[in-house]
Amino acid sequence: MKSAVDWAVDSQARTEGLGDGFRRTFGGEPELWARAPGRVDLMGSHTDYNLGFVLTLPISRDTWIAARRRDDRTVRVHSMNLDAGDEFRLDAIEPVAGSRWCNYVRGVAATLAGERLALTGCDLAIHSTVPLESGLSSSAALECALATMFAALGGWSLRPERMALLCQKAENEFVGVNCGILDQYSSCLGREACALLLDCRDLSTRSVRLADGIRVVVCNTMSRRRLSGSEYAQRRAECELGAARLGVRALRDVTPQMLAARRPELPEQVARRCDFIVAESARAESLATALTVNDRQIVGRLCAESFAGARDLYEICSPAMVAMMEAMLAAPGAIGARQAGAGFGGSMVALVDAASTDAFCAAVGKAYGKAAGMVPETYPVEAAQGAEVFDKYRCS
Ligand code: GLA
Repeated sequence: MKSAVDWAVDSQARTEGLGDGFRRTFGGEPELWARAPGRVDLMGSHTDYNLGFVLTLPISRDTWIAARRRDDRTVRVHSMNLDAGDEFRLDAIEPVAGSRWCNYVRGVAATLAGERLALTGCDLAIHSTVPLESGLSSSAALECALATMFAALGGWSLRPERMALLCQKAENEFVGVNCGILDQYSSCLGREACALLLDCRDLSTRSVRLADGIRVVVCNTMSRRRLSGSEYAQRRAECELGAARLGVRALRDVTPQMLAARRPELPEQVARRCDFIVAESARAESLATALTVNDRQIVGRLCAESFAGARDLYEICSPAMVAMMEAMLAAPGAIGARQAGAGFGGSMVALVDAASTDAFCAAVGKAYGKAAGMVPETYPVEAAQGAEVFDKYRCS
């Protein structure tokens, strides 16, 4: 199989490759195709489970599924990225111990079935250009593409908001990952050419058009700290404790003034977590405006404040991320740069002057390679449409 990077830029090769993968695994031709994007957050780290704002970009890296109905209520799945498969019956969906990937697939099926939505047996070949475990929501892209495919095969549809919530439920309850709504919402509600300002309290979104001349570049540190799951749970617990002590439902309801006045009531570490979340949520709204009006100075300042807070207050940075931040800021065309996803390694994000994109990527590669001893992946991404069924001939 060609690498994800080749297929990320050559959708005709990808269509043929996934079609071949389907034929080799299951025999015959797929009848339906669906896709769903990954995402990169431009601002709003860990604000989603605090019911705050996030500025998110559903990206042109996505998960594709080629599928065909079966009439025996069996689902057979093949992942081209992992070269692994699974098979289960729709009437008895149990988790598989030790395989998170299988559980994403089974979890979406089980959750939809739990809503009494009619599911059809099927053969599914899956391929993703969202790098796995790099902080760009490969899991949400998989879940949302699957839900879209099950809907198409079953002949029903869901509003994208509801689909996102059901995919989050699958991840929370079946897979056992206590994520917020950011990833699934981004993957289901994406609109071509727009970032989304997501209000995680009322779950409304506003489309945000980035000014011409600004490009979004993902810079993957290629490192991930193993503890990230337990650290994530710990941050959530600290935020919940902060909200409870301040007598509010979530940190979204805390203003900077209120926090300043009542800070002494909080344990020191909890107070620092609260400082970060309250400021970060406000920065998401401010960045949406600054990117629209092309105020590059403010973009740079907001991103720098976000990274400093992630490093010093929320403590989700690793040495690799610090090295990447330096490499991004020193590269030609850098307007702003910061962490992305949950932090603890993984991908980071830069806003770059469009004309300097190639030079930026080359310089980051060189500087980060020298500082961290690892070759990073750096690539520009476009805003992408959310989960959908598509015509494979569109790509050929
Ligand atoms: C992970 C979670 C999201 C969100 C981010 C941090 O990606 O899945 O729900 O909490 O971390 O912003």
